[in-house]
Amino acid sequence: VASVDVQVGLLGYGTVGAAVNRLLTEQADDIERATGHRLRVVKALVRDLDKHRDYRPADGVLTSDFADIRDDPSIAVVAEVMGGVEPAGGYVLELLGGGKHVVSANKQLVARRGAQLFSTASAAGVQLRFEASVCAAIPVIKVLREALVVTNVHRVLGIVNGTTNFLLTEMEAGQSYDDALADAQARGYAEADPTDDVSGADAAAKMAILATVAFNSRVDLADVDYRGIQEIDPLDLAAARELDMVIRLVGAARLVDGHVDVRVRPALVDKQHPLAKVDGAFNAVMLQGDAIREITLEGPGAGGVETASAVIADMVSVIGTMGTGFLQNDAAWRELPPLPAGDNRSPFYFRLSVEDRPGALARVAEELAERSISVARLLQHQNGDGAALHVITHEARAGALDEALDAIAGLPDVRHRPQPLPVISERGVVELGWA
Ligand SMILES: NC(=O)c1ccc[n+]([C@@H]2O[C@H](COP(=O)([O-])OP(=O)(O)OC[C@H]3O[C@@H](n4cnc5c(N)ncnc54)[C@H](OP(=O)(O)O)[C@@H]3O)[C@@H](O)[C@H]2O)c1
Repeated sequence: VASVDVQVGLLGYGTVGAAVNRLLTEQADDIERATGHRLRVVKALVRDLDKHRDYRPADGVLTSDFADIRDDPSIAVVAEVMGGVEPAGGYVLELLGGGKHVVSANKQLVARRGAQLFSTASAAGVQLRFEASVCAAIPVIKVLREALVVTNVHRVLGIVNGTTNFLLTEMEAGQSYDDALADAQARGYAEADPTDDVSGADAAAKMAILATVAFNSRVDLADVDYRGIQEIDPLDLAAARELDMVIRLVGAARLVDGHVDVRVRPALVDKQHPLAKVDGAFNAVMLQGDAIREITLEGPGAGGVETASAVIADMVSVIGTMGTGFLQNDAAWRELPPLPAGDNRSPFYFRLSVEDRPGALARVAEELAERSISVARLLQHQNGDGAALHVITHEARAGALDEALDAIAGLPDVRHRPQPLPVISERGVVELGWA
């Protein structure tokens, strides 16, 4: 069979873009043998033409003029690997509108502007693929959109940020937050400004994309309720250890009675749960659905080559299905309402600092009981001149627990308003040994 030469363009030639070009060049023969197509980068957009590049493209490939890619009729597929919402978003819209297929690694763009991008692609009869935007090398989008097309997925749980998972794993081993962060920065796992990662914002963007694809209903970044790991205290880590659990930053997307609930929280995860075994900078996504019961995908969630492998796989898929109408539709074909705030249910953990006086615990228990929240497990530690109470509730409505915690924060013996963390376990309290 004659091989087909396919010319592709890149928006961006940084960590990921250069890795795409390197893989396409060094593995051109393998890719051709596997797919029958030879992919060649013919134009790559950058800001600075004079910058040193470790892996230089062929002469004439780099350009600082977007029109060189947009107006080149020989380029049918473009990978957007430049990042940022603008000008990347405007460029992608122009490319799609002009009939070019686009593959993007940009979670911020897909999570914030997905509706507009997909409707433009759909109208122009081209594909927008975005595998690399979520968990880099892990092929979760393809699994959801193609492999599980007849499966009603109703819950997605994910460790989708490698930086925070690395930090939590190091903190579990006894490092302070600051030391763990310095270590992560030295190894290239964390940016100089780690705010997006540690605040949960990066994980929220990925969960918005995963929820949209899993439930076929648009979830924007603004719909995701997220919190990061900055407030995790060594006392929480110690309590988790004592409870045979670990703390992980977990994204959870669920379908609840026709409503969508997407949140990112540090959570106490039962050591028997698959997500508890995800250590270091790795990512994992667990999909639960009617026919499949449970599928967990785990792997590297970042890195130049890892991300480039997903970008190239998407380009290969686009090329293989061009002109067929396949996946030119918007995955979000229905509009499910969000779950009302406070209606999500879970077992929760919270830590209270109380004056070590008789009756303090009884008053806390009273506020919980008044809202029908029952305690599954209680640990108490002496903490200087006070006591730290670690409370695990049975499944409760988050809104009811918030009310109880507001009331508890007002009690004279309580030192601050606790922040509840969800508890993730597929086992009941008896199996956990808490009964
Ligand atoms: N790196 C990872 O591990 C990873 C993992 C998953 C997803 N991603 C996503 O992949 C995308 C690229 O990441 P990266 O790490 O490769 O970024 P990067 O190293 O900063 O590269 C960005 C590239 O885009 C070019 N660029 C940026 N703004 C531009 C503009 N306004 N006009 C023209 N060119 C512009 C830059 O040009 P110059 O070279 O001239 O500066 C550079 O070549 C991002 O969306 C990121 O979130 C990255």
